[in-house]
Amino acid sequence: MQEKQKNVPVNKAPIGIFDSGLGGLTVMSAITKLMPKENIIYFGDTAHVPYGSKSKKVVTNFALGISKFLVKNNVKFIVVACNTASAFSLDTLKKVIKVPIIGVITAGSVMAAISTKNDKVAVIGTEGTIKSNAYTKEIKKYNKKIQCFSQACPLFVPLVEEGWLDNKVTEQVIKIYLSNIISKKADTVILGCTHYPLLKNTIQKVVGKNINIIDSATAVAYEVNNLLKEKNLTNNKGKGSYSFYVSDSPEKFQKLGSKFFSKKIINVKKVEI
Ligand code: DGL
Repeated sequence: MQEKQKNVPVNKAPIGIFDSGLGGLTVMSAITKLMPKENIIYFGDTAHVPYGSKSKKVVTNFALGISKFLVKNNVKFIVVACNTASAFSLDTLKKVIKVPIIGVITAGSVMAAISTKNDKVAVIGTEGTIKSNAYTKEIKKYNKKIQCFSQACPLFVPLVEEGWLDNKVTEQVIKIYLSNIISKKADTVILGCTHYPLLKNTIQKVVGKNINIIDSATAVAYEVNNLLKEKNLTNNKGKGSYSFYVSDSPEKFQKLGSKFFSKKIINVKKVEI
């Protein structure tokens, strides 16, 4: 069972959130908006980003190390705010880590399954997430009839990290990657990567306003909220405080992080995992 920190009631304990780098801050941002009283520890594995092109074994090792670090810091709940790590490692983490833990795949899949009218859903993500088929498997659990189309978009992460969110080059790259999906007439597109919410407006411009784009960050926040309530772990007092840890340069994370978190990020600490 989860150890209680001396004199700290478990409800006041932080939620642990981790990602390969900055992207998971979009999930953290949604969680802080919905649950402003929750304390949060965020870990960005900036020394090992990107996870999207790495093997399941390598990503799972990183994810285990980070989860153990979060447990040592007395988190009451862990959110794997990285699609690739959720797709590759969630099952292993659930077996090893003795704290409730969720990934980001289920929430987005449920939202898409509910939202599609023509039973055609497209998923875009990193090579790892798409290869794992995790979204398709999850969507089929809710509705076997739904046809899923998927497309890896490996250039999207570097474009976002570069801050190229809506220029002509980015628009062209989106057009090329999504042309196949558009031709399949899917009415719903899942942004199956933490970085993609920052491209949402440009993707919408390319696919047209009639296509519903699912950004799972908000859905994940609702899932966390429901689970905390169910487990009597909600913190109802005070204003949440946030700590940020990274495995490489805190300066870069601090500078770029505000784009993902929509708030200034300070006091980022580097730790070895
Ligand atoms: N966070 C990763 C994801 O959501 C994207 C960046 C990476 O490849 O590490 O899949």
